[in-house]
Amino acid sequence: MKTRRPIIAGNWKMHRTLGEAESLVQGLLIELPDLADVDVVLCPPFTALAKVADLVAKSPVRVGAQDMHWEKEGAFTGEISATMLRDVYCRYVILGHSERRQYFGETNASVNRKAKAALAASLRPIVCVGETLDQREKEDFKGMIRTQVRESLAEISGDDAEEVIVAYEPVWAIGTGRNATPAQAQEIHALVRATLAEQMGAKTAARIRIQYGGSVKPANAAEILSQTDIDGALVGGASLEARGFAAIVKAAI
Ligand code: 13P
Repeated sequence: MKTRRPIIAGNWKMHRTLGEAESLVQGLLIELPDLADVDVVLCPPFTALAKVADLVAKSPVRVGAQDMHWEKEGAFTGEISATMLRDVYCRYVILGHSERRQYFGETNASVNRKAKAALAASLRPIVCVGETLDQREKEDFKGMIRTQVRESLAEISGDDAEEVIVAYEPVWAIGTGRNATPAQAQEIHALVRATLAEQMGAKTAARIRIQYGGSVKPANAAEILSQTDIDGALVGGASLEARGFAAIVKAAI
């Protein structure tokens, strides 16, 4: 029996205008089951955050952003701060997604600054780690994942650490339809938890939720989520469709 509360998050990436976001959320609120035993988080693009937060305000569904800057305010054209995210009722923020690492120069060091700033503003960071196919085949990819965890979560401990969610997303499984097998995912989730235990102590590590992400669909969700160290899912493509996302949430209960 797992004691960690499952958490399913939908990462909409760069999809959905305001009107489209409204239809999606309205559909979801009809399809979602009773959420007494699961946390559900929607992460729309910045432009739809306030709207989505308003639409889910009377439900247990929470809202998250897909990135943020570490400074509170300042001359950082194009950036958004934790305070601004709190202002539109965000409770979570995805940090270090592989697409940000790959296309926008995100590093473990910048993820760490952002994670600390998020926690200081009472936002729960969803910190992403994961290997590319090339890294899996050619490098010590497990060592690389341990480094991602260690550096991205440096100087975070105690109560703050327990607010963190780690998402293991093998890059080769993102948007490819090719998910990691439940056993492959469990192996890396156990590695992430062991790394967290070295860094923060076993008690804290046992409380941190670790999501799997990468081609999670209604058809594979239950098996993936049944693994010992898998506490939820970070869902991309399948979160853009109400019935499919709701089915994944049901699989987590
Ligand atoms: P897909 O579910 O579309 O593979 O995306 C996973 C992801 O990147 C979630 O952050």
